[in-house]
Amino acid sequence: AAATLATAAGDVQPIKNVTVFGSGLMGAGIVQVSAQAGCQVTMVDVTPEALAKGEKIILSSLKRTAKKKYAEDAAGAQSFVDQIMANIHQSTEGAQAATKADLVVEAIVENLTVKQKLFAALDEAAPKHTIFASNTSSLKIADIAEATQRRDRFAGLHFFNPVPQMKLVEVIRTRDTSDVVFNSLLQFCRDLKKAPVSCKDTPGFIVNRLLVPYLMEAVRIVERGEASIADVDTAMKLGAGYPMGPFELADFVGLDTVKFIIDGWYTNGDGLKGKELVAPSKLLNDLVTAGKLGRKSGEGFYNYAQK
Ligand code: NAI
Repeated sequence: AAATLATAAGDVQPIKNVTVFGSGLMGAGIVQVSAQAGCQVTMVDVTPEALAKGEKIILSSLKRTAKKKYAEDAAGAQSFVDQIMANIHQSTEGAQAATKADLVVEAIVENLTVKQKLFAALDEAAPKHTIFASNTSSLKIADIAEATQRRDRFAGLHFFNPVPQMKLVEVIRTRDTSDVVFNSLLQFCRDLKKAPVSCKDTPGFIVNRLLVPYLMEAVRIVERGEASIADVDTAMKLGAGYPMGPFELADFVGLDTVKFIIDGWYTNGDGLKGKELVAPSKLLNDLVTAGKLGRKSGEGFYNYAQK
């Protein structure tokens, strides 16, 4: 059940009604896990076509889970999917879709101005008690929160791709985030059967702050001619026990995304600005310019079309 109780750790506010903005890769996943936890969820995007894409992502993920859970029971599998889908509603109405929300999670394009515009409208449309959260990977939560009058009710809720499989959520507290809001978000993560960790509002939070410089150092090993792409990947899988090598992981994340993150940090990241660790790389830039963005475009460091 989505209902939450006050705990010794502090008061929490129940989160039963969730509105998710963006029905892309991340938004669809957040909608799905919230609906699976028993919340009533409204999935919002700008066009019916975008919503249809989100619904497709959710349905295929749920069907995969149902198949495993109800191997010999087609009726059971169908009712599992139907029950969760019944918790999901769709809207193209923008901020008006949040008038019943206990929590808004934003997973739209990674652009500060666009996010601020959405939250300014939401600040007008959503009830006073509604908690606002952004799933941003690289923007500062406090900069997005500035667009609202409820900075005490604003936090980061950073999920990982693929959302239904990845157990971690980073809960980001700004200087203004209240204890009740912070504790409510931790409890919400537990309701979703996720493991929350908390982090201050710093570039990359925990995971990307460590992961992205690591990926870039792997690129630089290859650029310096010290080892091959395949050998670096083999080394980290067999020598460090990582499930994917850094180049496989970069292709999975998307080379445009990696470039976008380091470029932002190099020009403007607290404590990272101008650091060699996040400096531009010719190899990475050339691949992105050539449209070789990783798995999603069929080629990145590796060629997937041939596999
Ligand atoms: P995506 O491009 O797959 O989906 C974004 C969706 O937002 C699109 O369907 C678009 O139509 C919609 N949208 C744009 N403006 C909108 C608006 N004003 N109102 C409603 N919908 C709007 O993007 P993705 O990958 O799902 O990323 C979304 C956010 O999640 C970004 O902030 C990104 O930094 C963050 N994130 C991405 C991760 C990833 O691995 N892709 C991981 C963790 C966070």
